[in-house]
Amino acid sequence: MPSHQTQVVIIGGGPSGLLLSQLLHRKGISSIVLEKHSRAHVLGRIRAGVLEHGFVNLMREAGCGARMDREGEIHGGFRIAHQGRLDRVDLAKHTGGETVMVYGQTEVTRDLYAARDAMGGVIVHGAQNVQLQALMGARSYVTWDQDGEAQRADCDFIVGADGFHGVSRKSIPADVLKEYEKVYPFGWLGVLSETPPVSDELIYARHERGFALCSLRSRVLSRYYIQVPLTDRVEDWSDAAFWNELKRRLPDEVAASLQTGPSVEKSIAPLRSFVAEPMRYGNLFLAGDAAHIVPPTGAKGLNLAASDIHYLYHGLLDHYLRGDSAGLDGYSQKALARVWKAERFSWWMTNLLHRAPDGTDTDLRLQRAELDYLFSSEAALSSLAENYTGLPY
Ligand code: APR
Ligand code: PHB
Repeated sequence: MPSHQTQVVIIGGGPSGLLLSQLLHRKGISSIVLEKHSRAHVLGRIRAGVLEHGFVNLMREAGCGARMDREGEIHGGFRIAHQGRLDRVDLAKHTGGETVMVYGQTEVTRDLYAARDAMGGVIVHGAQNVQLQALMGARSYVTWDQDGEAQRADCDFIVGADGFHGVSRKSIPADVLKEYEKVYPFGWLGVLSETPPVSDELIYARHERGFALCSLRSRVLSRYYIQVPLTDRVEDWSDAAFWNELKRRLPDEVAASLQTGPSVEKSIAPLRSFVAEPMRYGNLFLAGDAAHIVPPTGAKGLNLAASDIHYLYHGLLDHYLRGDSAGLDGYSQKALARVWKAERFSWWMTNLLHRAPDGTDTDLRLQRAELDYLFSSEAALSSLAENYTGLPY
């Protein structure tokens, strides 16, 4: 069996794994990234593209920020459409100047892959049957099958950045792992279209027919969502049906200026809140979607992965360069503290804007009161703005 030696094995070639590998490599710490799928498959995923300033800074620190800074859009606010009104949340005003960067996650991942290639980073695509071994030992190892041949990598640490359906979280004994989950009774039907965005800022719509979101990837590529029942399938929705429903949930002046076009991608995603504790077991550290999932309403998925990677990166640096393992020992507690605050915000924003299928008239009235309070209170808007732009690491 071919054997490899490295300091850190990273399972998962998504944004989390690639970002950590890149940051470590720039400090002389070796890693191997094991990715189940091909690069084309990974880059074919369409995911949210609202980046907190913490993530933007990490990409720059990793030497991967040039195209993001060139092509990404700085957004100082977004709008909420509700009760026939279109109210703006001025992020910069309520945070002393903080903004978000709108830059597609596919492009983030593409930039990370390009940076890894430029540095000669070791990324194994097509790694099948990955198994984590000796997690409580002085050294650990990972085995996998590559083109039908068994492989092994010995390492000091394993980082599980393999997403919600990965193998890492499942490698923690059931009597150690505690999982928290809330599944929402609706999904998001998303469409990507090569059309100019309907607005220069994101519009989140709360409507009696259900939630809608107008987002973008660039000035010529738009991303739209509508809330749909969990029973809906993507084949139930023609492009025309999607555009008509989206328009019904938007203010008249917005719907009138919406440019429609053929969907270049159309999919339905479920919404869930999920957290696994602890995020460390022996030499294994969980990061990103492997440890937590948020409903996409608050655009926190990728941004939470970023703070995990920030904590893990500095913990590994201190361990290897200064012989100090306090950062690694405190990783799970520190990461979870920020994770749960983002889970709370994502849950709050989801309940604020979606129509609960079993919601009562009282629920609807309370939801309207929450929105009325939000836009009548500087304190409430400041709370929303600081969470949306990103709580401190
Ligand atoms: N072996 C190797 N690779 C695996 C395995 C496995 N057993 N299971 C999953 N993977 C790979 C997946 O193919 C995927 O490319 O791990 C990667 C995990 O990437 P993501 O799911 O994107 O998770 P993460 O890197 O944490 O990024 C979080 O992505 O899903 C969005 O909303 C989420 O924006 C957030 C971001
Ligand atoms: C997106 O552009 O896909 C997007 C933006 C903001 C969100 C969710 C998704 O809250």
